Amino acid sequence: MTDETQATQDGQATQTDSLSVTDNRTGESYDIEITDGTVRAMDLRQIKVSEDDFGLMTYDPGYSNTASCRSAITYIDGEKGILEHRGIPIEQLAEHSTFLEVSFLILYGHLPTEDELSQWIYEITHHTYVHENIKDFMSGFRHDANPMGMLLASVGALSTFYPEAVDVSDSHQRHVSAVRMIAKMPTLAAFAYRRSLGLPYVYPNNDLSYTGNFLSMLFKMAEPQYEPDPRLERALEVLFILHADHEQNCSAAAVRVVGSSLPDPFSAVAAGVAGLYGPLHGGANVAVLKMLKKIGTPDNIPDFLEGVKQGNERLMGFGHRVYKNYDPRARIIRSHVDEVLEATSKESPLLDVAIELEKRALDDEYFTERKLYPNVDYWSGIIYEAMNIPPDAFTVMFAIGRTPGWMAQWLELMNDEEFKIARPRQIYTGPRQTDYVPMSERNGSGS
Ligand code: CMC
Repeated sequence: MTDETQATQDGQATQTDSLSVTDNRTGESYDIEITDGTVRAMDLRQIKVSEDDFGLMTYDPGYSNTASCRSAITYIDGEKGILEHRGIPIEQLAEHSTFLEVSFLILYGHLPTEDELSQWIYEITHHTYVHENIKDFMSGFRHDANPMGMLLASVGALSTFYPEAVDVSDSHQRHVSAVRMIAKMPTLAAFAYRRSLGLPYVYPNNDLSYTGNFLSMLFKMAEPQYEPDPRLERALEVLFILHADHEQNCSAAAVRVVGSSLPDPFSAVAAGVAGLYGPLHGGANVAVLKMLKKIGTPDNIPDFLEGVKQGNERLMGFGHRVYKNYDPRARIIRSHVDEVLEATSKESPLLDVAIELEKRALDDEYFTERKLYPNVDYWSGIIYEAMNIPPDAFTVMFAIGRTPGWMAQWLELMNDEEFKIARPRQIYTGPRQTDYVPMSERNGSGS
């Protein structure tokens, strides 16, 4: 049955926009409206066994089947492997566009005109510097601090430098915050990277492109002018485009949940960075590299895959909550791997392992039956490693790319007609009405 087709009591299917529900506890029937293939969870609240019953709730750990908002930013069809931003397929954006143009598109809903684009690039380029105190702030971290932890903290710290950003109802402030966030993220990321290596910070160079400047802030040493390799500049551009947004994933949901209490957007984006940190989200490419290193050579692959099937390991970089087909971003990234290795004159011993592992997993029923295909993180680690970016900083790269997406999700939330503070329900499973036990009477068993 389609969403629109519902069975009536006599068994005949009719086209309606409602769902008929019979509560077998009471025998009562209800008609619940269906809009856009969804029912409103609040409409279930009327289903009660008695007057003082709270009403029916839905239970959805991990929000696997719950739409939390209406969004016009990113469309994904996971079964078909389709990803579009504002309706434009990711393949076209990766081929023809730039990261800043895609950022504008994602934030403001349309491709910029020539004037809009040059104004946008001008604004971003002229907000790349961070307050000098950020350097002092960075130096407070231990020498071996993870760059992602430093990024998370320094993004949160931006809220203290721009207190006016808390005026989230002011459209000018919202725009300036978006510009600042996208402009400063590479500077913060590069400072965190240089700090972790004990190298002096490199200030932004406004003569370079967004990615060229980022490469300069990462790798410039004593040379008066850093000349980025155009192949690396473009590969980074594409990687950032591919990461720009991915609708309601863990970090975007974190931005929206935190943003819904109306703090400044830097604080909301810091929550997104924290969400991205973990190995099941943005940290997966680090885990992929670790996995490839652990496998070592292609002949160890069968044993490794056996371990995955026994449940002792996870095939990192495979599987996705939404894609039940090849992640289109993985295919595009794969096409840049050879070019990056050529530009950096590197041979990646892990490449052979990655190619063979992918091939074997795609030929294996265990993975095909579960619809486990490579995701965006399967190949990105190999590219970053070839660029001399240490694994600890891989997730930081993802964060730079995802920044326009987080800001766009936040902006959309601020304009949402159905705006509400996020506040999920729970099914309480603990004890009730137990008495406080004095220390002298506790036996340590929790009773
Ligand atoms: N290796 C082995 N088995 C897996 C994997 C994997 N990578 N992913 C899922 N499965 C199995 C899982 O054990 C389960 O099997 P069974 O039905 O026998 O219990 C089945 O596939 C369904 O998995 P799930 O955990 O219910 O799926 P999920 O939608 O909750 O998880 C995921 C999605 C991305 C967390 C998961 O696939 C995973 O852990 N992948 C590896 C980590 C990774 O690459 N993450 C990057 C995601 S893409 C970048 C991003 O958006 O952040």
